[in-house]
Amino acid sequence: MDHPLGIDFGGTGIKGAPVDLAAGDFAQKKVKIDTPRPATPTAVAGVFRELVADFPRSAAAVGITVPGVMKRGVVHSAPNIDPAWIGTDADALFTEALGREVHLINDADAAGLAEVEYGAARGRRGLVIVTTLGTGIGSALVHDGVLVPNSELGHVQIDGRVAEQHAANSIRERDDLSWPEWAERLTVYYRTLERLFTPELFVVGGGVSQQSEEFLPLIEIETEIVPATLRNRAGIIGAALAASRAAS
Ligand code: BGC
Repeated sequence: MDHPLGIDFGGTGIKGAPVDLAAGDFAQKKVKIDTPRPATPTAVAGVFRELVADFPRSAAAVGITVPGVMKRGVVHSAPNIDPAWIGTDADALFTEALGREVHLINDADAAGLAEVEYGAARGRRGLVIVTTLGTGIGSALVHDGVLVPNSELGHVQIDGRVAEQHAANSIRERDDLSWPEWAERLTVYYRTLERLFTPELFVVGGGVSQQSEEFLPLIEIETEIVPATLRNRAGIIGAALAASRAAS
C-alpha cells in the first residue's frame, strides 16, 4: 500500500517515515539523518533524496516541514535556517529533485494539523490554537479542522518584545528560568492570544511538552490548555497528511 512520506526538517536532524493516514501513525520506523551545514536547499535536497530511497515502497506524495513561512510552495521567511531558502520555490525544486510530488508546510502548521486530526484536539470544533515551544514559538490556527496557515503567533509583540524572544523554551534554558518564572511569561503570552482570538482550546507542543506537568498548571488563563499528544511524531504525520490532501 502507498503511504505518503512525511519529513520533519529541523535544525539538527532531518527525520522521515511513511505515514499510515488511516491509523495516524508511522507505517515504518523513522529514519534520522543529521542536518547538513550549511543547510542550503541544495545540501538538504541530498538528504531528502536519501530518505526517499530508504522507503522505496512509499510511492505517494512527500510532505516536508519547514521552520518558516510558506506561501504557495515558496519559502518567505526562515529565521532559524539558511537564508538561501528565502524566495526558493521549494515545492517545485524538490518535486524536480525527488521525482515525486512534494509539498512543504510550516512546521507548526504540520503539528497543528496532526494534533487536530489524531492527537490532543481530535474531534474539537471551533478554533484550536496549537503552539510549539522550542527554539522559537510556532503556531497553528485550526478552525473546525481547517488550517489557516502561517499564523506566526510567536512573533506577536508584547510590551515591545517579540514573544518568542522572551518566552520560547530556548529562552527558559538560556536564562535558566525556574518553571514558575517561565510560566509567568507564558501566562502573559497566552492571555494575549486569548484576548485576540478567544479560542476553544490551546494545545502546547514542542519537546518541553513532555514536562507539561511542571508548567501547564501554572499558566493562569480562562481557556482550556492541554499538552500535545503526538510529541515528536506530529511534524512527520502532519506533513504527510498535508501532502496527501494537496495531491488529491
Ligand atoms: C518561525 C516559525 C516556526 C517557529 C517554530 C519561528 O521562529 O518564524 O515559522 O514555525 O519558529 O519553528
